Amino acid sequence: SPPAIIAPSILSADFADLGRACSTTMGQGADWLHVDIMDGHFVPNITFGAPVVTKIRSHVDRPTGAYGRGTFDCHMMIAEPKRWVRDFQKAGCDLYCFHYEAAVSSTAADTPAGTSDAQTSPKELIRFIHELGMQAGIAIKPKTPVDVLWDILENPVSEERPDMVLVMTVEPGFGGQSFMASELPKVTALRERYPELPIEVDGGLSEKTIDQAADAGANVIVAGSAVFGASDPGEVIQKLRDAVEQ
Ligand code: DX5
Ligand code: ZN
Repeated sequence: SPPAIIAPSILSADFADLGRACSTTMGQGADWLHVDIMDGHFVPNITFGAPVVTKIRSHVDRPTGAYGRGTFDCHMMIAEPKRWVRDFQKAGCDLYCFHYEAAVSSTAADTPAGTSDAQTSPKELIRFIHELGMQAGIAIKPKTPVDVLWDILENPVSEERPDMVLVMTVEPGFGGQSFMASELPKVTALRERYPELPIEVDGGLSEKTIDQAADAGANVIVAGSAVFGASDPGEVIQKLRDAVEQ
């Protein structure tokens, strides 16, 4: 598997002091920051948009390469993922991770009847994200089967292939929910086919659930409440890392 990457979700940080929370969690050993963008349509909750990302970006050093320390991993839980690519690139997003479900349903809305191809939109979106110099991630919700990803991952055109897959282990929308072990077979199937692919898990990750996720093959670990709710967040980050590296 690729190296362990621990990405605290700042959804559970103090929104009134977000810049400081970002630099503090980096100082406690985080690799990336996981930035949850919610629009109140794709998920039943609203967080913040590109202007806030611009402000917090200055509190964390930019990464020097792909997957580097300080990567802003923007998890776009939004209905129109293509619409916001440029704004988030300008704001300092390094990895733009959109939802498969949102890309496919925006294709259906924008394309004349009969011409829509469920697989076309994710590919075009990935190409567009790459053209703007960001890494592209694709996320799937619990109800979405992993099989929808095979065509996208097997695309011979490298510009249209995702740099990471995010397997949600809760229904997106809120922090602090219970981990859904039922989603781990998706991770196992992805890891069997793609030994080098960064695979992220998000939702309910903690010292209690990390071993299952790591055994399945996840290497990018998002944790919100487990990190920001801990008395020693640095210790939690280290334990998550040790579990993946074992
Ligand atoms: C949920 C978000 C997660 C959330 C995880 O929709 O995508 O990133 O912050 O929070 P925890 O780790 O508390 O489940
Ligand atoms: Zn997330």
